Amino acid sequence: MIREGQADDAPAMARINVATWRDSYGKFLPRQLMEELSCSQKQAEIEDFFARWEENQAVALIAEDKNGEMMAFIMAGKNHRQNLGYTGEIYNLHVAPAFQSQGIGRYLVYRVSQVFRQRNWNTMMVWALAENPNRRFYEKLGGRVIAQNVDEYRGFTAPVIAYGWDELPYVLTYIGGIPCMKAKIRSNKCT
Ligand SMILES: CC(C)(COP(=O)(O)OP(=O)(O)OC[C@H]1O[C@@H](n2cnc3c(N)ncnc32)[C@H](O)[C@@H]1OP(=O)(O)O)[C@@H](O)C(=O)NCCC(=O)NCCS
Repeated sequence: MIREGQADDAPAMARINVATWRDSYGKFLPRQLMEELSCSQKQAEIEDFFARWEENQAVALIAEDKNGEMMAFIMAGKNHRQNLGYTGEIYNLHVAPAFQSQGIGRYLVYRVSQVFRQRNWNTMMVWALAENPNRRFYEKLGGRVIAQNVDEYRGFTAPVIAYGWDELPYVLTYIGGIPCMKAKIRSNKCT
């Protein structure tokens, strides 16, 4: 089941965020950053996103299992770096390790692109750490490399790569058809 996220989801979102970082990011991020990682730190970052809801024209979606356990979340909204020419941006996407590779990540990207398209935002992008092998996921969904940069996070710098989608209506056809069948996610809006 997919539902909209809200500020009081921040603690559960933070737990998933920390779990995915420990599961996959520990292999390439500096040890100090990983040691300092905590749910309270991630929760504060997520609460800041909800606090800037209007400014971000934000979208937050939560995937839950039938027992109401949070499996994944996506945070998205307006792209504040308009010089790249992409209107919407995925800020954060995390699928809890136990629920990965079931089509949930793809379905959340699809649902966000659907929201963007309803706003007549026909382009979107996402930044990913260059060293994160999971960025290939965005290539699978048709994203193409549009920019590279170096990002700063808690005193550490790391190269990042941006993926962009130029025509969301087309991407929707591609992303949309497959996950509904593959992940068997219960949603009456799975068109
Ligand atoms: C990356 C992530 C969001 C993918 O979500 P997911 O639900 O596991 O992925 P899906 O099952 O929807 O996969 C969709 C497609 O992407 C592919 N894919 C998923 N992860 C991939 C990876 N690490 N490398 C290459 N392809 C990948 C899948 O094989 C699938 O393709 P297929 O239909 O041809 O088999 C999830 O694994 C995750 O949260 N990882 C940790 C956090 C993270 O790295 N987030 C940011 C991504 S840069």
